[in-house]
Amino acid sequence: MNRRPLIIANWKMHFDFVEAIHLVQQIGVLLRSKSHDNVDIVVAPPFVDIRSVASVIEADRLPLAVGAQHVNALESGAYTGEVSASMLRRLMVKFVLVGHSERRTLFSMTGDIVAETAAACLRHGITPVVCVGENSDEREGGTHREFVEQQLTETLRFLEGLAGSIVVAYEPLWAIGTGKVASTGEVDEMSKLIRATLAQHQRGESHILYGGSVKTDNAAELITIADIDGFLIGGASLKAESFVEIVSQSSDCYGKKR
Ligand code: 13P
Repeated sequence: MNRRPLIIANWKMHFDFVEAIHLVQQIGVLLRSKSHDNVDIVVAPPFVDIRSVASVIEADRLPLAVGAQHVNALESGAYTGEVSASMLRRLMVKFVLVGHSERRTLFSMTGDIVAETAAACLRHGITPVVCVGENSDEREGGTHREFVEQQLTETLRFLEGLAGSIVVAYEPLWAIGTGKVASTGEVDEMSKLIRATLAQHQRGESHILYGGSVKTDNAAELITIADIDGFLIGGASLKAESFVEIVSQSSDCYGKKR
């Protein structure tokens, strides 16, 4: 592993702004006594919490960056309920999850929209975290490799010529929130495929994250996979203790491997 690990907490639709402040403060307290120097840490709260969370991070000088879970690809206009990349940028958002499987499946986010959204992030100096991953039918039918390669390629083609770094999160749908983590062999195979696809599009140095039931008891093993550079964490990021434990395990592993 030669890239400094990146650990992202995806809080999904949990916590109002008061709860979010408490959680980020707790994370800050725990980080004081746990190793984290070798990793970059991002928290991605619901939109309405971002301002409060960013204020705590700034005031307490916490070693955290702020992310968002979604953004609209368009600049501005009559799009009721939507939020633009420039608005997030003003809130000091550095990373945005783009095309999370919950957005793709529950909110009709097509591959084209994912690509346009990633491009909008880059234009505004935000790093898109492009989420890809197969469902259980694709996995069982043996088409998972083609599926993920195609999902990623459609975005990478669209980003050609655009400056700025991207992150790819491999999140097999059957492992999200199920407690069923992908095996190291499965993650190794898919992360190699993703690395090769990124390299074909001159983005071979991008971070590749794994997501899907990452917990304190499997993170240390997953982070040793050659092409995995960090995690996108749902459930285990909702508690400061488990999140910081995963951060610190990743930091220790990276420290030893360097
Ligand atoms: P879980 O960690 O709860 O499986 O969620 C993964 C995820 O969707 C992160 O984006």
